[in-house]
Formats: sequence, C-alpha cells, structure tokens
Amino acid sequence: MNTLILVNTAHPLSPGPAPDLVPVDEAHPHILLERRAARLLGACIQAVGGVGAIVPVSGWRSQAQQQAIWDQTWAEEGEVFTRQYVARPGCSEHQTGLAIDLGLAAPHIDFIRPHFPEDGVCGAFRRLAPRYGFVLRYPAGKEAVTGIAHEPWHFRYVGVPHGAAMTALGLTLEEYLAFLTQYPVGGKPFVFEGEGRSFQLSYCAGPASALPPPEEGEHRLVSADNRGGRILTRWWEGGRTA
Ligand code: DAL
Ligand code: ZN
Repeated sequence: MNTLILVNTAHPLSPGPAPDLVPVDEAHPHILLERRAARLLGACIQAVGGVGAIVPVSGWRSQAQQQAIWDQTWAEEGEVFTRQYVARPGCSEHQTGLAIDLGLAAPHIDFIRPHFPEDGVCGAFRRLAPRYGFVLRYPAGKEAVTGIAHEPWHFRYVGVPHGAAMTALGLTLEEYLAFLTQYPVGGKPFVFEGEGRSFQLSYCAGPASALPPPEEGEHRLVSADNRGGRILTRWWEGGRTA
C-alpha cells in the first residue's frame, strides 16, 4: 500500500486504484478510512483509553465532497481562511483515505477545525500515534513547507516505521521524502531503529522495476511517493544474516 504518497497543492492526487475503504468504527459508519489505517487508528485510540472521548470527524472524501467543502468554506469564511484550512479539490490527502480529522467529544464539533487539545487523552493520542503509523501532518512552524495552517486535529497514516521515523527526525512528509532521496537504492540506506527492529530505508527514483531483487530473509515494503519515485523499506527478523 502506498502509505507515503505525497498529496499537496504541488502534487495532486494521481489517478489510480480506489483505496480499500471501511467504516472507521461501528459508531461512525459514514466515516471511511483505508482498511489498515482504520484498524491502527482504532487500536491507538483504544490504547490511550480514548474510545468515546476521541471522535472521528472527517475521513475519506471524494473529489465532489472536497469541492463542496472548499466552496462552502470559501462562501462562509472567505479566501484566506479557506486556503489555510482546506486543501484545493484534487489536492487533499483526505481523498487518499489515509487522513483523519479527530475531535474531542463535545455537543458541537467544528467540521473544519475540530477541537483536539494538547493535553489529556488527545495529547496522549498525539504522543502515541507515531508508533501506530500516524503523524500530525500540519504542525506549527511548518506552514511554509506544507502550505496549510497548523491543524492539531489532522492525522495522516504513513505506516510503520515511518510515523516514528518522521517524528524522531522532526520532518513533515514533504521534508521526509526529500531527506530519503539522499539514500538512493544500491547505496548506503538510512537506518532507523524502532520497534526492536533495524529498518533500512532507501529511495528509488525510477519505476518499481528499478528496485533491487529481494534478498534472503528480507521483509520489504514499497510505497510510491506520487513524485515518480518510491521508498523501499527493508528489515530482517532477528538481524541480518544474508
Ligand atoms: N484540511 C486539509 C488541509 C484538507 O482539506 O485536506
Ligand atoms: Zn483533515
């Protein structure tokens, strides 16, 4: 699964197979998320004791839904606000099924900017989320990089170990992909130690056919990045023997 695809104003969503979408949980059948992202989101919310307190607000959106959100926000809040908090239709990572907006349970939850505080169960979720493959996608101080204002409620599934690696490095997805291009396949990989494993990350600028063949005992994940390249993630159980 392409957990590392970059979707922003400069990188519109590419046409491709529709994501495997499921309801995020039983209580919210109309909020959809990619199957694995939904499972790990639920596990992380459960792990911090957040069931019922942390509420999914917006998951997968179609192009038409993103357009309607853009148009309505523009009409109600104006251009500046809309460009800060709503991605242009075709350029929203909500359209991938890998992004989720979360709010603290309350009688009224703002759809565009849900309240998701730094403390309490929301803070606990934010701290644990990277281990479940989720990152805070639009952090404060990175507005010039992401093109979006600080959104404490918007989490993006990038998968394991990338959530933990990005958080440890302090990099947004834009910056992380640029960082990984320094480690082309065939050369020395970037090594990330996490979850008791030693992950070897490298970047393939070409098509999937340019990836090296699997080695003995290797586990690998490959994700396209929506910039023409792909990230190769490899590890060996119990250390490398080959
Ligand atoms: N709120 C984020 C940027 C979106 O509309 O995708
Ligand atoms: Zn969002």
